[in-house]
Amino acid sequence: MHQPVLAREAIEALAIAPDATYVDGTFGRGGHSRLILERLGPQGRLIALDRDPDAARAAAEIRDPRFTFVHTNFGQLSRALDDAGVRTAQGMLFDLGVSSPQIDEPARGFSWRSDGPLDMRMDPTRGESAAQWLAHADEEEIRRVIRDYGEERFAKQIAAAIVAARRGEPILRTGQLADLVGQAVRTREPGQDPATRTFQALRIHVNRELEEVSLMLPQATERLAAQGRLAVISFHSLEDRIVKRFVQALARPQLPRRLPLRASEMPQPLLRIVGRAQRASPEEITRNPRARSATLRVAERTAVTYNRIEPGARWRN
Ligand SMILES: C[S@@+](CC[C@H](N)C(=O)[O-])C[C@H]1O[C@@H](n2cnc3c(N)ncnc32)[C@H](O)[C@@H]1O
Repeated sequence: MHQPVLAREAIEALAIAPDATYVDGTFGRGGHSRLILERLGPQGRLIALDRDPDAARAAAEIRDPRFTFVHTNFGQLSRALDDAGVRTAQGMLFDLGVSSPQIDEPARGFSWRSDGPLDMRMDPTRGESAAQWLAHADEEEIRRVIRDYGEERFAKQIAAAIVAARRGEPILRTGQLADLVGQAVRTREPGQDPATRTFQALRIHVNRELEEVSLMLPQATERLAAQGRLAVISFHSLEDRIVKRFVQALARPQLPRRLPLRASEMPQPLLRIVGRAQRASPEEITRNPRARSATLRVAERTAVTYNRIEPGARWRN
C-alpha cells in the first residue's frame, strides 16, 4: 500500500471542477487519482502518468471511462497529453519521488533494509541500473552524485570505498553496498541508517529525477488552462528548489530584451503563486513518517497566453 502524503491539501489545491480535465503525473498506486475521480462528474476526465510498470498494472484495475493511464515519464508530458487527445487541463498534480511499494519490494533494489539486486530504476525496462552505473562511473563522479544528491558529508570516503571494492568483485546487491557504506561512514545520524543518504543519491541519479522535474514544469505550465492549478509535492530540498525557482520566475513579469516598453505592453506573468509552501501536520507525520520531508507548492495559470517559456531559463540549477 501507498499512503498518499498531503492528500487533502493537494486535492483542495486543485480546486476541482466536476466536468473538467485533470492530470495526476505520478499515479503510484492511485491514492491521489482515486480522490480526484471521486470529485469528478460524468463529463470529467483524469489522465494519469507513471513510468513504473507496476504502477501501470495497478492503474489497469481502475475501470472507469473517465480515466486514462499513460505509461511514460512526466518529462514527456506534452506528448502524453497529445496521445490522450487533451490540449489543456484544469489541474495537474505531481507527487514526486518513490512510492512505498517501490521501496518495500526488495527486488526493486531501492532499499538497504533488505537485500536485493542493486537496481533502483523506477522503470526497470529502460536505462542503466545503479549496479551498472557503479561498475563504470569514475570516483569523482560517484563522489559528486553522493555529495550533491545525498547531501552526504562522507561522500569522498564512500566513493573511495566503492571504487576499491569493485576492483575485487562487482557491487551487485543492495546488502553489499549498505555494508560498504556502513564501513566507510563512521558516525551515524540518530535514527538514520548510514546508507540512507547514499541510496537516496543513487536513486535520484539513476532516475534523472531532477532533470525530469525541470523538463516537466514548463510543459505543465504550457498545458494548463486559464486559472488551472499546478500542485507539486516534493520530498527533497533540491527538487523543491527547482519547483520554487520555476514558480517564482514565472510569477514575475517576463521582461523581454526589447526595452523600453509602455506599461500596457509589459508581458504579464504566466503563473500566480497560491498560498505559502505547505508542510505535513505533526499528526500526519506521526501516522506516516514519509510525510516529514514533504513540501507542497501550488501555482495558478493566469489568462496570459502569448509569452513563451524560454528554454534553459533562470529556474534551472
Ligand atoms: C510518491 S509516488 C506517488 C504516489 C501516488 N500519489 C499515490 O497516491 O499512490 C511517486 C510515483 O511517481 C512515479 N514517478 C517518479 N518520477 C517519475 C517520472 N519522472 N515520470 C513518471 N512517473 C514518475 C514513481 O514511479 C512513483 O510511482
